[in-house]
Formats: sequence, C-alpha cells, structure tokens
Amino acid sequence: MKQLLQLLSEHVADAFCKAGYEADLGKTGISNRPDLCEYQCNGAMAGAKRYHKAPIVIAGEVAEILKDDEAFEMAEAVKPGFINLNVSRVFLQKQISAMAADPDMSVEKTGHPKKIIIDYGGANVAKPLHVGHLRSAVIGESIKRILRFMGNEVLGDVHLGDWGLQMGLIITELHERKPDLPYFDLEYEGEYPDEAPFTISELEEIYPAASRRSKEDADYKARALEATKELQMGRRGYRALWKHIMNVSVRDLKKNYDNLDVHFDLWKGESDTQSYILGMVQYLKDNGYAHYDQGALVVDVKEETDTKEIPPCMILKSDGSSLYDTTDLATLVMRREQYDPDEVIYVVDKRQELHFVQDFRCAKKTHLVKEDTGLIFLGFGTMNGKDGKPFKTREGGVMRLENLIRDINEEMYRKIMDNHAAEPEEARETAKIVALSAIKYGDLSNQASKDYIFDVDKFTSFEGNTGPYILYTIVRIKSILNRYTAAGGKVTGCRIGSIVTESEKELMMELAGYGSAVRTTAEELAPHKLCAYIYGLANAFNHFYHETKILSEEDENRKANLIALIDLTRKVLEQSVSLLGFCAPERM
Ligand code: ARG
Repeated sequence: MKQLLQLLSEHVADAFCKAGYEADLGKTGISNRPDLCEYQCNGAMAGAKRYHKAPIVIAGEVAEILKDDEAFEMAEAVKPGFINLNVSRVFLQKQISAMAADPDMSVEKTGHPKKIIIDYGGANVAKPLHVGHLRSAVIGESIKRILRFMGNEVLGDVHLGDWGLQMGLIITELHERKPDLPYFDLEYEGEYPDEAPFTISELEEIYPAASRRSKEDADYKARALEATKELQMGRRGYRALWKHIMNVSVRDLKKNYDNLDVHFDLWKGESDTQSYILGMVQYLKDNGYAHYDQGALVVDVKEETDTKEIPPCMILKSDGSSLYDTTDLATLVMRREQYDPDEVIYVVDKRQELHFVQDFRCAKKTHLVKEDTGLIFLGFGTMNGKDGKPFKTREGGVMRLENLIRDINEEMYRKIMDNHAAEPEEARETAKIVALSAIKYGDLSNQASKDYIFDVDKFTSFEGNTGPYILYTIVRIKSILNRYTAAGGKVTGCRIGSIVTESEKELMMELAGYGSAVRTTAEELAPHKLCAYIYGLANAFNHFYHETKILSEEDENRKANLIALIDLTRKVLEQSVSLLGFCAPERM
C-alpha cells in the first residue's frame, strides 16, 4: 500500500500542476520545524529557478489550491518559499485504518526478490567467542531477518575460521602433552577413537597456551606451521584430530549463538573450500590471471584510479599452503556452485576492509563470480569500553562473550527485583530476555560502521534510547490489552476511530512512518534506522498514554477504538524488535 508521505506528495504535486507547474516539485517530507507544521514541501524554491519567479509567489499559488484539499487541515506559504502543511485528521485516520487492515502493516515487500547469502558470525573454532564476534552476530542476524522479511531468499552462513594456524597450534600442543596418542603415529593404520582426547574446557586452555608459546619459541611456531600445512594436505591423523576439535567446539559455539538468539542456516567454514582450491588455482593459472612473485602465487588487483597502494591477492604461499585470501575466494566459487546467489553480504570488522577489496576485485576480474553478483562489505566499528578503548575485563584481559552476557543478566535481574517484587524464578527469565534487548539494541542503535561505547548502565536503563525502554513500552501496552480482555473486552485491530486529541494524532503520524522505515532499513542495510523509528514511536505512545484515559474511558465505542490503536502500536513495535533480533516478555 502507498505510504502517507507518498500520498501527501501526490496531492501537493497535483496542486503544482493545477497552478501550471511541473509535478516533480510536489515532493513532500516531514517538517524540520515541527513547532510550525507537520509536513513541508520545498518545491517552490526549485521552481523559482525553473520559472524565473519569486519562490513565495509560487508557494502562495500552490498553498491556495491546497487549502481546499481534503488531505490537509492547514496549508500555508511562508518566506522565502516553503509550503507548511498539516495533514487532516480524517485523511490520517483513513491511512492508519488501511494500515491496520493490511497484513503487512503497510510494509511494501520487494518486487524483485533476490537470493542473498549473509556471511556473519565468523567465529574461530577452538577459540572462545569474544566481544569482537558479538557485533557481527548481532548486526548480521538483524540484517538477515530484515532482508528475509522483505521477501528475499536469504541464507545466513557462519563461515567458521576452522582451517588456519590455530589448528596447527592445537595439534602441536597436544603432541607435546600426549605424544602417545595414535593421531601422531604415521605408521598407525587402524581406526581412531570416537571420543575426543580433550573436553571443551581443556581445548579452551590448550589454544591460548599454544599461542603464547609460539610467540616465544620459534621452533615451536615452525612445527605449528608445518602441522597446519600437513593438515591441509590431508595427513590422516591430523584430519581425525581436526574432526574432534570441530565437534567439541561447534557444539559449544551453537550453544552460545542460541543464547544470543542468533541462528545460521549454514554452518560452513574455511575448511569446506578445500576441495575447490586446487581447481581454482589451476583455473587462475591457465587463464593467465595469476603469476608467481617471490615464490608466492598472486593475482594483481590494483587499478589505475587507486589513490593508495592495493597489494596483490595472495593465492598460495611459497610453501603451497593456502591463506585467508584463498579460502575466501574459494568460498565464492563454492557458493556460486551450490547456491548461485545474486548477492553476498559480509558483516565483518571494518579493519578487514582491504582484504575484501582485494578479494572482490580478484573475484570479479577473474570471473570467479558472475559479472552482476553483488559483493557487499558491511564493515563495523569497534566496541569500546567506557574508557574509549577496546572492551576488556576488569583485569584487562579479553572479555569472553559468555561472561559479558552473564554480567548483563545479573544487572538486569537486580533491576527487575528492585523494581517490584517479582518471583525470583520469573525475574530470572525476564532478565534474560531484557538483557538481550539491552545488548542488541545498544549495538544496533548505532550506525554499524562507527565505533561505540558499551555502557552497561546506559544500555540496561529503562529510560532513554535503550532496548529495555522499548520492551517496557510493549509490556505496558500488553498489560492494558490484558486488562481490557479480562474485563470482557474484545481486541479487534481494524477499528481505528476518528482522531480526537493532538497526542493521538501524533501517535498516528508516527505509525504512518513504519513502511518507509522498514524499507529504508532494508535498502541501506542500516538497522539503526529502524531503532530510531521505534524510539520515536515509543515516545509518541508514552506521551499519548500519559494524556489519554484508555481503560477508564466511558464511551465504550471510543474505548474500543483506542484499544485498536494501541494494539496496532504493539504489533509494529513487536514486529520491529523481532526484526532487530529480540522479543518482549509478557511482564517486567
Ligand atoms: N573468522 C574471521 C575473524 O574472526 C571472520 C570471518 C569473516 N568472513 C569471511 N568470509 N572472511 O576475523
């Protein structure tokens, strides 16, 4: 269905035509002087140049015509040539009624659905998830939900880091600790045990120990590199160990992502590209795209217009082993063969941008992807602590995601218990739901590419631009609706009544912006725009709530209309938070 702004623009465009001007001048937007008017059109200013007339003259002619237009209750030309507008109550009521009757609540789904792969999460196997991975998970999940909601076919792929040096390090360290395991015996031809020779907690201790040692001990590092290469070349015992590491670690990762309400359709990783690499390398050589440079196989990707040096894409190291460039290129080959996507979106730390510039250029130039495949890098900034430096534990170590979530849950639990006497068990459950909103909204309400400060006190507050505030608003509406039905009332969504008060009108004007808010969010891959929208809507609702008798309204007809209005508000808020990746509890 058409959006309110679109309709208003059409009415203003009509008026321009009637006054003898071109219709495109009628574009109308939300007023940037809300103290003066609700909407405004600046077309007379552009028209002034085109028609060699004073803008205020044109604005005056058009406003005169709009005075008789049923869409507006006020139309006024002001100097130097703006047209200030207020929408009419009847017109707005009609629009919100149509929205309430529309199963998509005025969101226009895409007319050209695409097949999209979103590469997000990016956890590294055998290393604990840390806060750096949080942003990718939170932003990627939201974008996945939004693009899917718009009607696209979307696959989320976690793209595990499961093929790099960390695997060689773990193998080397295990060899040191348990040299008698059959995995290290080259003569061994039997079956390997089903049971992993370590638990998840051991694994989490082994990797940092190995990583530390490799930094001090050159020989150890060399052995880890060798083990990595042998694993990639297919050494049987190492492959078996690798499978154990994967099983133990992925089980743990799934649990962590589940706690975040983040769900992947594909659990693929760098290792899945192994069978594509040989063929890809051959192709790049045969077609003259790749050449050897100091022993390494590279593809040049610099372009004449570059203002800074873009180094070549590294396909193989001089010892023949593959790198990050290699696996990412081969992943594109694999994705093309298995899914043939129209678009691949990467939600990755913006410090990796150069890698993706090289990768995308290489893939396009060598035709590893089709000409028109969209490759999009959505780089996000760093999550910092209150001191403005990358987020750390109190002791200065890397903060594990699990601990961060635990801390926020505690904080939320404390607040909920302080607020009122909830049963501890229910408060625990509610705290979890609200804590997730604090974490996710705190992240998503910032433009992704910017760094932001993770401020626990601010994010968990029930006031201000926070997740808990939005949920609090939803819960407030639910509670009114529950009391209404408990007293025998029936919530019927479609009966939006005539507008009586100013705060009711303001709430409806906010509601009318829903369709374009979702659309812009999807088009610009910008969840912060949806956050800004629901914050405005929640504010308008709370203002309305404080000014309006709802349950104590004596006119039953009006009461039912008000109930329909707040139910629509609830639906929009609930759908929005679900697109952002969280949900509201029943009570809080
Ligand atoms: N595992 C990587 C990291 O932790 C992120 C992977 C991002 N995706 C990709 N296709 N390279 O930095």
